Amino acid sequence: MSSLRNRDIISIGDLSKDEIQAVLDQAANFEQRLARGESHLVAQLLQDHILATVFYEPSTRTRLSFESAMNRLGGRVISVAEAKTSSSAAKGETIYDSGRMLESYADVIVQRHPATGSARALADAASVPVINAGDGTGEHPTQALLDLYTIQREGAGNGLRALDGLHVVMVGDLKNGRTVHSLSKALTNWKVNFTFVAPPQLAMPDEVVAYLRQRGATVQQATELAPALSSADIAYITRIQQERFSSVEEYMKYKGVYVITAAAVAQAKPGIAIMHPLPRVDEIDTDVDKLPNAAYFRQARNGVFVRMALLTMVLGGD
Ligand code: CP
Repeated sequence: MSSLRNRDIISIGDLSKDEIQAVLDQAANFEQRLARGESHLVAQLLQDHILATVFYEPSTRTRLSFESAMNRLGGRVISVAEAKTSSSAAKGETIYDSGRMLESYADVIVQRHPATGSARALADAASVPVINAGDGTGEHPTQALLDLYTIQREGAGNGLRALDGLHVVMVGDLKNGRTVHSLSKALTNWKVNFTFVAPPQLAMPDEVVAYLRQRGATVQQATELAPALSSADIAYITRIQQERFSSVEEYMKYKGVYVITAAAVAQAKPGIAIMHPLPRVDEIDTDVDKLPNAAYFRQARNGVFVRMALLTMVLGGD
């Protein structure tokens, strides 16, 4: 039985390296099984299980890939897509009370919420496992898992490549981007060198950098993109998160500060993988999409396999 059985997935730091690798291996197994045409067998794994997706913030990939994963596994889904306005949160219901209700309706809950710490609060209330699909500027652990899977898959043929020794460059709004917080923490399970490229006002939070260094990672911080790309194996690009700014004027100071173009990729280290959690605004030019280095749409697709793995391991269908 998986050690993730009945576990809450709140922070990527809650998972050991072995547990993370077990999810990635199981994701590879599901990708291969679906490619072999075994969808009818896979669809028996979570029959009679119900997933609740409760999203207080917008989402395309996370919500729909969780729901796609559950459907592929033969389970069922109940969903609130605009929980802030269309659930009883609009009438003042607390996360605690929501959790006490949802535990009766579903076997696992996936929640996205604008407040950091909200996933932990829900997990403290609900007796069924809670999976954090993003809590404000805090964490997005399942995105980190699919990012790791993508890094292992890119350039590895049919297998999974080793992560030790990689130079990972993270670019953009590193202050507000929960994906980079979770992914950088996850990568400390391997010997990875980081360069964080951001305007000083949007730099990676000090507590995250301290965590990474305490875990033995090498961290450099920069404001110029081109020098970092020349030695990067992975360029992880993020958008400037308009919704986290106090005003449009403040956001406009940073909009467009870094834009990856095909010309920039041509100057970068050969074989560099360009990743992005998406949605993109303007930080990757569409002329990059046709390059083999553009990994971001494959990355989003990988979310289905990784979430299939996680759901089966948490619910005991593996
Ligand atoms: N990467 C990601 O979290 O995308 P969504 O906001 O569309 O879920």
